[in-house]
Amino acid sequence: MAYAAFRSIGAYVPKKILTNEALSQMVDTTDEWILQRTGIKERHIAATDETTSDMGVEAAKKAIERSGIAKEDIDMIVCATISPDYFCMPSTATIISNKLGLANVTAFDISAACTGFVYILSIAKAFIESGMKKNVLIIGAEKLSAITDYSDRGTCILFGDGAGAAIISATDNKEEAIIDIQTGADGAFADLLMTPNGGTGSPHDSLEQEAAGCFMQMKGNETFKVAVRTLTKDVVEILENNNIASADVKHFVPHQANYRIIKAVGDALKMKEEQVVLTVHKYGNTSGASIPMAINDIYESEELKAGELLLLDAFGGGLTWGSALVPFSPLKK
Ligand code: UT7
Repeated sequence: MAYAAFRSIGAYVPKKILTNEALSQMVDTTDEWILQRTGIKERHIAATDETTSDMGVEAAKKAIERSGIAKEDIDMIVCATISPDYFCMPSTATIISNKLGLANVTAFDISAACTGFVYILSIAKAFIESGMKKNVLIIGAEKLSAITDYSDRGTCILFGDGAGAAIISATDNKEEAIIDIQTGADGAFADLLMTPNGGTGSPHDSLEQEAAGCFMQMKGNETFKVAVRTLTKDVVEILENNNIASADVKHFVPHQANYRIIKAVGDALKMKEEQVVLTVHKYGNTSGASIPMAINDIYESEELKAGELLLLDAFGGGLTWGSALVPFSPLKK
């Protein structure tokens, strides 16, 4: 049986920085409030003409280059995004495949909001273990600034843009293999986080109404409580199911939504500060891109070494959630 190995990571962060100070000129908020309630200091915002696929391509190029796998050997591309280049079609993954010069690959998007990266990791693992694919490029890419209402202080302070990508490949070596991935969803909480318009669930009377409803809306405080509960339960379960102690996890990489959520889950797991990967202060919440961007950060700062165990944990709109136990298994040591 083939196993799935996490070979490489790459990310792209747009140049423009939006600080808390700048946001406080736009809505009734302060740097102090944002920092205290979320841990966010700044977030990056894509250029007007920069698309989600543009950012995904840049992240993908790095992941491919670092993987030691020839670009032509990639046989599937899966993109997690809630801010695609085009709603409905074509998928952002197919646009990325074209920009990378990869014809004749399977390419599609999935929508699982902030859990997107854990979902696409599980898809890559399943395709590889079944023998259907050998080298899968997975990408979490978001231009959330395009679907953010910059007059709503409850949401606009949270989100940023960026992309992260990884190559997942077949291996015979079980030591290198992704250990386990859990994913779940509960549509009963669908209204906590949504973009109400733009789909068949929202017949609209005017284009103006439709446009306003295409922005993200969130019941922040309720989402916060469900997030802490769900994320904690999820990671406790995946560690127990696999007989792994939290002390054996080298890097805990939670979805970067809010420092207080990360702290609560980390404390519940008795994680030491040095185990918990934090990027929320500089990137904000980049939804499906947040986990691969965070992994890329520890890779580029040389904190992530071959063979080290990553514990991923995500939660987001849907509601969706997921966790994964992933040894970092580069071909290039
Ligand atoms: O990534 C997917 C999952 N997303 C999340 O997990 C996000 C979860 N939610 C959160 O991170 C937090 O709920 C927020 C950061 C969004 C809000 O923090 P909170 O501590 O839950 O605040 P709250 O919504 O309970 O609001 C407290 C007060 C309210 O004022 P009153 O009613 O007490 O007078 C809000 O109107 O804070 C006010 N408020 C603000 N004040 C200054 C809300 N947003 C702001 C703001 N600046 N930006």
